[in-house]
Amino acid sequence: MLETRYRERFARSAALAAEAAQRFPGGVTHDGRTAVPFPLYIERAAGPYKWGVDDNRMIDYWCGHGALLLGHAHPAVTAAVAEQLARGTHYGAGHALELRWAELVQQLVPGAERVRFTASGTEATMLAIRLARAATGRATIVRFAGHFHGWHDGLAPGADPDDPHAGLLPSHVGHVLTLPADLAVVADTLATRDDIAAVILEPTGAAYGVVPLPDGFLPALRSLTRDHDTLLICDEVVTGFRISPGGAQARAGITADLTCLAKILAGGLPGGAIVGRADLLERLAADPQQGRNGRIRHQGTYNANPLSAAAGVTVLELVASGEPTTVASTSGAALRAMLNDVLSAHKLRGWTAYGDESIFHLFADPQSAVEPGQAPVDVPLARLKSGGDPKLANALRLALQLNGIDLMRGRSGFVSAAHGPDEIAGTAEALDDAIGMLQAEGML
Ligand SMILES: Cc1ncc(COP(=O)(O)O)c(C=O)c1O
Repeated sequence: MLETRYRERFARSAALAAEAAQRFPGGVTHDGRTAVPFPLYIERAAGPYKWGVDDNRMIDYWCGHGALLLGHAHPAVTAAVAEQLARGTHYGAGHALELRWAELVQQLVPGAERVRFTASGTEATMLAIRLARAATGRATIVRFAGHFHGWHDGLAPGADPDDPHAGLLPSHVGHVLTLPADLAVVADTLATRDDIAAVILEPTGAAYGVVPLPDGFLPALRSLTRDHDTLLICDEVVTGFRISPGGAQARAGITADLTCLAKILAGGLPGGAIVGRADLLERLAADPQQGRNGRIRHQGTYNANPLSAAAGVTVLELVASGEPTTVASTSGAALRAMLNDVLSAHKLRGWTAYGDESIFHLFADPQSAVEPGQAPVDVPLARLKSGGDPKLANALRLALQLNGIDLMRGRSGFVSAAHGPDEIAGTAEALDDAIGMLQAEGML
């Protein structure tokens, strides 16, 4: 039995998970790390690899939830952080690294006239919708079903329409309008309502493209929002610096009013930012004319923390050369092609590897007619987000881990610039072996 093999092979992880179940709600420290029968425990990582407590080496596709474009423990990042560590971790004051960090962001991200650092992506989107409401005097935020913008009350409604969050006030839910990613519906909404402050989206589709957007969606949404004097907020927390050095917007040739950043921005350390139009961000400054009334107050102990700045500057200086993003994208395309070759060779119905640039998703659902290489269409959101048939997707996750591959949430992956041809070929081989295991299990 696959699960028995997993339990035996990863016995130390099982013991730690049993202890964690007594200490942490759900036994985990992030919902996305939940795994059945238990998650694996890691003790070190370098380049494209992670080593677990069970003497197991895995090719890692979590890559720090997408934060590690250069792979784990990149020597330049490690050196920069170590150097900064020795100089102090918090000054409670401005420092030159935060200026250089902002300068690089402004150089790379379209329309970044001003920058305000935050401690996370969640905080960036929180601040973005506050700014949008203050600037427009309107209350409602349009968001798209299944797009994730962090866990705060302001944008939790609609993140997971099949699994509504408990603990949200009706006023939070009432001021968020969740729409399908359908331009006709957006156009109709903006034409008939006068209470929409902003439209926010993940610019490659829900869950970093698990549910891709229709072609041309982003430029069309930019025009629509501009025509109706509604702000466009691009949540580039995942896509920033990854889809292109200037994110998904630069690739699409558009400029949002506000952009939320995190992950790669801070080079694998905690950090985020909101950037965009100066007239909007200047609302964070004290205005002597208006006193405190016209101002949005924004604090945050760890904003522009020197350690995060050291990592962020090092990574963005490399990103500015264009090379890491291109290398990761090229490897991502090669990996998808090789995975689809494996799926085609096995003639499996309803399996595909799809994605965008250095992001990939595996989908396995015998009820679907999707062909290898295609993105699944007309599949319910929850099924897409679970990687297809949930039982099959989980079995595939276990089989891949037994073969040395760790996929993000068991169904997606972030390819880094450190993943080379050996890792890509090794991943395809592991998929082949994992499929063999599922066949032996009688699941296929
Ligand atoms: C698109 C998007 N926005 C916002 C967030 C929240 O960022 P953080 O986890 O840094 O709070 C995430 C996290 O995964 C994300 O994927």
